[in-house]
Amino acid sequence: MSDTNMMRVAVIGGEGIGPEVTSQARRVLSWFTERRNLPVVMQDASFGVEAYRRTGKVIPDETRAAIDGADAILFGATGGPETTEVPTEARKEGSLLKLRRSLDLYANVRPILTDPALYGSAPLKERVLKGVDFVIVRELSSGVYFGEPRGIETLADGTRRGFNTTSYTEEEIRRVARFSFELARSRRGRLCSVDKANVLETSVLWREVVIALHEAEFADVELSHMYVDNAAMQIVRAPAQFDVMVTDNIFGDILSDCAAMAAGSLGMLPSASLGPADAHGRRNAIYEPVHGSAPDIAGKGIANPLGSILSVAMMLRLTLKQAEDATLLERAVNDVLAGGARTADIAGPGETALSTSAMGDAVLASLDRLAA
Ligand code: IPM
Ligand code: MG
Repeated sequence: MSDTNMMRVAVIGGEGIGPEVTSQARRVLSWFTERRNLPVVMQDASFGVEAYRRTGKVIPDETRAAIDGADAILFGATGGPETTEVPTEARKEGSLLKLRRSLDLYANVRPILTDPALYGSAPLKERVLKGVDFVIVRELSSGVYFGEPRGIETLADGTRRGFNTTSYTEEEIRRVARFSFELARSRRGRLCSVDKANVLETSVLWREVVIALHEAEFADVELSHMYVDNAAMQIVRAPAQFDVMVTDNIFGDILSDCAAMAAGSLGMLPSASLGPADAHGRRNAIYEPVHGSAPDIAGKGIANPLGSILSVAMMLRLTLKQAEDATLLERAVNDVLAGGARTADIAGPGETALSTSAMGDAVLASLDRLAA
C-alpha cells in the first residue's frame, strides 16, 4: 500500500502517567498494523513540561506539524506539579484545552460500561452496576471553559475578584445535540439532556434548542431532561437507566468523573473528542483516557493502561473504520479482566496487582489467542 493510503496517528504521551499508559496503547495499535495489516503509521510527538524544557514550547513545532498532518491523535494526559515551572502564557498557549478548541472538537464521547469482572472491586454495589451501558456526550469547545470575559481583577478597595462567563450559541448547542440524537438512534433510542435550566440562561437556551431539534428531526428518539444536580445523584443511584446523556462542557467534566464510579474505576474509561464531519465523513479526533495525569503514581509503572487501550478501540471504530478490529480489542480486554488480570486501581482485596506493562502484555497475549 502506498504511503498516501496510510492513515496517520500522532502519539502524544504528555505528562504524568500519560507516557506510561500510552506506550501500552501504542503496542496494541502496532499489533493491529503488524497482525491485521491496519494501514496506519504512527508518529511520536512530545508535549508538556518535558517538551518545554527542551524547546521552550509546550507544543513544539514538530508536534504541531504531527497534529496537523494526523488523521487521529492518541493522547495520554496533561497536568501535575511540575507544570508550574512553565510560565502561564506558554502553558495556556500549549494547553489541551487550546488544542481541543483549535481542532474544533465539540463532541466528547465518554462511554460508561461496567465489566462484570469488576463488580467485586468497584466502589458501588453489584446490583447498581448491573446493566450499566451508557454514553456521556460532553460539549467540549465552548461554555465556561472558553467564555469571555474571564480573569482576576483588583477592585478599587484592593480586594480581588475572579470571574468567568458561561456562554453558548444556538448553533453550538444544536450541533452537539444533533450528534447525541444520532448516537442515541444507533443505540437504544433514548437521550437525556442535562442542564441547570432552573437557574442558568445558557441552560434555558440549551433546553429550548434541544426540544426544537427533537421535534424537527428526532421525534423517534425518546428525549428526557434532567437537572445536573439530580443527574449526579442518578448516576450513582441507578446508572443503568441511561442510554445517551448530553450536557455542556463543565457539567460533562464533572459528571463523567462521577460516572467513572459506575464503570468500576476511572482508569477503565476511554474517550473520543470529535470535530465536525467533512464531506467525506472525516473528523478531527483525539482519543484519550478520561483519567488525568495522576502525579501521585506517575513513573511508578503501576497505572492502569486499559483506559488508553480502550481509546484505541474507539479510534479503530470511529476514525479508522475497522469495527471488527475494535470489537476484537474490546473482547481482548474483557477476556483479560475475566481471567483475573488487575492493575492496582481495580484489584480487589487479596488480588495481586499487575504493572502497567504486564497489563499491556496480557492484552497482547489475549489478542494473539483470539486471532489464532
Ligand atoms: C478532562 C480533564 C480536563 C478537562 C482537564 C485536564 C483540563 O479533566 O478531560 O475531563 O477539564 O476537560
Ligand atoms: Mg475531567
